[in-house]
Amino acid sequence: MAELDTSILRPPTMERPDVRDAGAALAPSREPAVDAILRPSEPALFSLTDLSFWYGHKQVLANISMSFPMNKVTALIGPSGCGKSTLLRCLNRMNDLIRGVRVAGRVEYRGQDIYARDIDPVEVRRRIGMVFQKPNPFPKSIYENAAFGARVNGYRGNMDELVERSLRQAALWDEVKDDLKQIGLALSGGQQQRLCIARALAVQPDVILMDEPCSALDPIATLKIEDLIRELVNEFTIIIVTHNMQQAARVSDYTAFVLADEAGAGHLIEYGTTHDLFTTPKDRRTEEYITGRFG
Ligand SMILES: Nc1ncnc2c1ncn2[C@@H]1O[C@H](COP(=O)(O)OP(=O)(O)OP(=O)(O)O)[C@@H](O)[C@H]1O
Ligand SMILES: [Mg+2]
Repeated sequence: MAELDTSILRPPTMERPDVRDAGAALAPSREPAVDAILRPSEPALFSLTDLSFWYGHKQVLANISMSFPMNKVTALIGPSGCGKSTLLRCLNRMNDLIRGVRVAGRVEYRGQDIYARDIDPVEVRRRIGMVFQKPNPFPKSIYENAAFGARVNGYRGNMDELVERSLRQAALWDEVKDDLKQIGLALSGGQQQRLCIARALAVQPDVILMDEPCSALDPIATLKIEDLIRELVNEFTIIIVTHNMQQAARVSDYTAFVLADEAGAGHLIEYGTTHDLFTTPKDRRTEEYITGRFG
């Protein structure tokens, strides 16, 4: 994909609260095993440096440093409550919408600090789309669901073409092309999730963050989404949270294992190619987790 002009993330002038506090105290560290944190050789779309995160006084992420390569699928795995969803939401500033949160460290997207004061979080969220655990189509037609974000953004191109392209990209077009006026909520769960993916794609994002996108789906619908993810990664960068080890192994190129310490703060324990992490984990805790001994 061509380099995007990230200066567009900056509106001319806009005051907004700065949720970052670079001077915040750091959690007691829980050192990963030597060499357990990969530095992918591909160009990084995101680079995280000492990312820490708090809900009020409760620290839930501690000093996460890693990069996410472009046009790859990276899976985030780890036990419930270790901070996977929080980490994902740090990447498009979705956490800003929650009161009383604090971010420390740096999140660079295409080399630009997305928490800098002059960055427009709305533009960040347009570039960095998100698909949630439970399919959440709006109570509107299939067409209007696909068109929604583009309308909100004042898209001036041909909407029919955009809707068709997005539904095709989401591998849903053939199933719905004769029913575009039907309400999106009438689709099956798997179709609804693909409709949500189409809605995310229609605003022409660069990255798609997926938070357990298949956890509400049956095995057939899950496989369809997994096939779709492997298609989409040719054009987009995908970061997916999953509890399903087989899914991580099937769809991702890289896998990051996150684990909370005794105080509840998530640390990056191991990050590697999916193949290496699942076949020759370097950290004993990774091995215990992927073999089902805890979590
Ligand atoms: N809005 C919130 N306010 C306060 N605490 C929160 C909030 N959201 C999450 N937390 C807490 O932050 C920690 C990390 O939560 P998070 O949802 O990121 O974990 P997770 O790894 O995605 O878990 P799961 O696998 O169950 O989805 C948990 O202790 C959770 O209770
Ligand atoms: Mg979660």
